[in-house]
Amino acid sequence: MTDVFADVAHEPGAKKPDPIVIADHVHRHFGGLTAVDVEHFEVQRHAITALIGPNGAGKSTFFNLLTGFDKPQTGEWQFNGHSLVGTSPAKIARAGKVRTFQLTKALNRMTVIENMRLGAAEQRGENFFNALVPGLWRSREQEITKKAESLLKRFKLYEKRDDYAGSLSGGQRKLLEMARALMSDPEMIMLDEPMAGVNPALTESLLDHIVELRDEGKTILFVEHDMHMVRRISDWVVVMAEGSIIAEGPPNTVMSNTAVQDAYLGAHHDTDLSEDAS
Ligand SMILES: Nc1ncnc2c1ncn2[C@@H]1O[C@H](COP(=O)(O)OP(=O)(O)OP(=O)(O)O)[C@@H](O)[C@H]1O
Ligand SMILES: [Mg+2]
Repeated sequence: MTDVFADVAHEPGAKKPDPIVIADHVHRHFGGLTAVDVEHFEVQRHAITALIGPNGAGKSTFFNLLTGFDKPQTGEWQFNGHSLVGTSPAKIARAGKVRTFQLTKALNRMTVIENMRLGAAEQRGENFFNALVPGLWRSREQEITKKAESLLKRFKLYEKRDDYAGSLSGGQRKLLEMARALMSDPEMIMLDEPMAGVNPALTESLLDHIVELRDEGKTILFVEHDMHMVRRISDWVVVMAEGSIIAEGPPNTVMSNTAVQDAYLGAHHDTDLSEDAS
């Protein structure tokens, strides 16, 4: 990929040449605790952006705000030039931005293919039963099943089609979460710690899938603690600490920023910051 970031400043809130997401003055506090206080944030289209930072930095909270699952006290953001303030998660998904979901207890008791069908319905804001019960929606149902099956093949989960989601390994669950999110053909996909609990055998395959999605033209924003993975696949890294963005830059240099090192050390984090860690 030609380096679209060549002229982007290595500083918090840096402007990008072609931003798909622009956020301003996003503030979220829980009682007296400021969880997110982001002045300006842009995500470059068709790139893989990593959002990193010590535990409690506000990464997941910021994710929830950007996808409409939580409401900020103040803030505004745009997706593809359209304001998303006060927009429901289903509408945000219809606009083309989705996040993956952890498989909850209820989803564990459904089969893999049922999870996929439900993924399509949730993201269109449809009634739960329309997605699961054939009948009135027969032809759409068939279309959804076809798409689900082709995604399951792509993510090597087709043999698990009729198994309960709860019986999958950690890595297979992550693949299912990703496949599920793709049911609505999103332009942008957001992943919160995609590598957590994944065994090394599946890590490579997950990384390849993420890079492949970018190469197909999707935009990816992911939160991750594993710096090895961040260095391997991200085009740009945004660092949060105590609710704010404290640094931005390419993966091979951003960790040597003093503010970043201080933030991690202050948090007694066990992340390996060395440049050549692998
Ligand atoms: N619903 C909530 N109620 C109260 N406090 C919350 C809530 N959600 C998050 N917080 C607090 O907001 C801060 C940011 O939390 P958040 O989960 O966003 O951090 P994070 O960067 O995702 O951390 P981690 O790397 O551990 O996942 C933390 O201090 C957390 O305790
Ligand atoms: Mg988190």
